[in-house]
Amino acid sequence: MSNIVLKGISHAYEKEKVLNGIDLTIEEGELLTLLGPSGCGKTTILRIIAGFIIPDEGAVLSGEADITKWAPENRNMGIVFQNYALFPNMSVKDNIAYGLKIRKKGRDYIEEKCREYMKLTGLLEYEKRKVNELSGGQQQRVAIARALAIEPQMLLLDEPMSNLDVSLRTRMREEIRAIQKKIGITTLFITHDQQEALSISDRVAVMNKGRILQIGTPKEIYDEPERSFAADFVGTSNYINGHFIRPEQLRLGQGGEKGIPVVVKDVKFMGMYFEYTVVCTDDSGKAQNYCVTEINRGKAYREWHAGDTAYLYVNL
Ligand SMILES: Nc1ncnc2c1ncn2[C@@H]1O[C@H](COP(=O)(O)OP(=O)(O)O)[C@@H](O)[C@H]1O
Ligand SMILES: [Mg+2]
Repeated sequence: MSNIVLKGISHAYEKEKVLNGIDLTIEEGELLTLLGPSGCGKTTILRIIAGFIIPDEGAVLSGEADITKWAPENRNMGIVFQNYALFPNMSVKDNIAYGLKIRKKGRDYIEEKCREYMKLTGLLEYEKRKVNELSGGQQQRVAIARALAIEPQMLLLDEPMSNLDVSLRTRMREEIRAIQKKIGITTLFITHDQQEALSISDRVAVMNKGRILQIGTPKEIYDEPERSFAADFVGTSNYINGHFIRPEQLRLGQGGEKGIPVVVKDVKFMGMYFEYTVVCTDDSGKAQNYCVTEINRGKAYREWHAGDTAYLYVNL
């Protein structure tokens, strides 16, 4: 294993430039997430790393080796596609064995690896089941086991949870993270879901329009967004006197302390918390909206209503 380095990668489909000077290092053993809106170029980066696309400009390095033009089959990347791309009429085991058969591994070796990765992904009891007789979550485990069975240099996961319902998504991301840590495999994870990115990653690269805007740990990305795009795409944020302030860093009170006088304009009940839009009038008479969230503490919590006057405080 070694790290993967993208150096000055740019790429256009026909005339539309979709990647613009991408510099990125994926360190050995880490899980790095590309986070950005649909169409920003995430899958194109994955395809360049996998070798399906040779970029117009720039290089892909694996350790010391320049692999920019290597064919996909010479790179040993384990890939899980958005739609899994499994063989629906083949059994779980045959799906997992597929990459190993192509690589002309011996029967005993294939048997051993299939068992090992079915065990790791909790699929042993489904060995003979056809893929089209499995649930979405089970199919995803097959796709992951198949990608891992070839013991790749790196795991590439392209929005692997997008076909799953919300509660299963949360469970599967914990499973993926646990497996990734257990075997210590270098992983590139792609998503447009900020919660997913923040909860699963060692580091996150925030992308927009073919560029990487910021790279950092999940906490850095959330607490210290460098640009307004990153601040808004990863959560909601307020911009007060040149600082990004998160809604949960603000709270409302009835006065008594020095706060900013505001009027509650809108209330959204989100279950776990309340989200308020409040408006204040600044010195020049301009109305300014802020977003404030407060945890729903149940009966003990006194909620605000539209039209209430209140004071805004910053919790630092
Ligand atoms: N094969 C292709 N031919 C032409 N344009 C493409 C092709 N694949 C992707 N694109 C365009 O390139 C941009 C980036 O796509 P993609 O890398 O798939 O973004 P993401 O994965 O972030 O949604 C999009 O505008 C998309 O429409
Ligand atoms: Mg994509």
